[in-house]
Amino acid sequence: MFRDLERIEREFEAGLASAAGDPGAIEAVRVRFLGRKGEMQALLRRFASLPPAEKPAAGKALNALKTRIETAVAEASAAAAAVRRRAEIAAGGLDVGLPARTPWRGSLHPVTRTRRELERIFRDLGYTVESGPEVEDDFHNFQALNLPPNHPARDATDTFYVEGGLLLRTHTSPVQIRTMQARRPPIRMVCPGRVYRRDLDATHLPMFHQLEALVVDEGISMADLKGTIDALWKRFFGDDVRIRFRPGYFPFVEPGCEYDVSCRVCGGRGCRACKGTGWLELGGAGMVHPAVFEAVGIDAERYTGFAFGLGIDRIAMVRHGIDDLRLLMENDIRFLARFPA
Ligand code: PHE
Repeated sequence: MFRDLERIEREFEAGLASAAGDPGAIEAVRVRFLGRKGEMQALLRRFASLPPAEKPAAGKALNALKTRIETAVAEASAAAAAVRRRAEIAAGGLDVGLPARTPWRGSLHPVTRTRRELERIFRDLGYTVESGPEVEDDFHNFQALNLPPNHPARDATDTFYVEGGLLLRTHTSPVQIRTMQARRPPIRMVCPGRVYRRDLDATHLPMFHQLEALVVDEGISMADLKGTIDALWKRFFGDDVRIRFRPGYFPFVEPGCEYDVSCRVCGGRGCRACKGTGWLELGGAGMVHPAVFEAVGIDAERYTGFAFGLGIDRIAMVRHGIDDLRLLMENDIRFLARFPA
């Protein structure tokens, strides 16, 4: 055993010396001595069958040689690499004066950025951020929102149905229901997320993003709703924004309304973005209908609440001056690169 160790060491020294400076030859030496079918492995196998009394000394010698070989190989490769680098520089193959290739830097998608900005404002106002499933059941998407099976307002949303009586949620309002089922008032929450409708043109996509706010507590009134919407958009767009409320119908609120903000493109004088009206429609709102409270077991005599929704993609378009909704979904790098982090 010990004689073999000496022999291997001699052969290794000789082999490595003749391989010096040549990375391929050094690798061949490494394989010959350290490889799976190499000299050291063969010795290790023999070591296993030594009489126990000889094992400690032999093991120590084996390990020492193995470490020695490993270190020497590593040093020889590093030296070879350094030599090669110096040769390349000397030959002019490496021009350290060239400008560096800057790596690609990703940035947040305008929709993600807008969503986060809105979430931040709501968090500052003390809201929690909730989420719910995109594949919903009829109860949460419709029935609990005061849209019974034959309600005419169901026609207003073109629904994607999936197997098992489920559907792709047509709005974020089912998360209102899930939150009220899970928690008791006071509730102050927003739920951003994807929603789906069977639509496709320059201003409608089959998948888009909504964000919805719900507040339930004792003594909540329409004044709280108006004040909150006002505060939200002043924070988001700036203090000069004007808000307007118009009557609107959604079965799950009463009274219900729609709200607009003064056009951010023309300042309210009228332009293409606002179709000459001076106003941008942002979403629906209203006071939670008592039938909704009943569906989730909240006492409508004691509690009142408001809810409102908005389209995140629309807001991102207004914010960034984007004129075609489809641009937001095509993931064209030339478009996205216009929004560096
Ligand atoms: N869910 C309604 C929609 O998608 C928006 C809305 C939310 C209206 C909350 C009123 C209250 O159109």
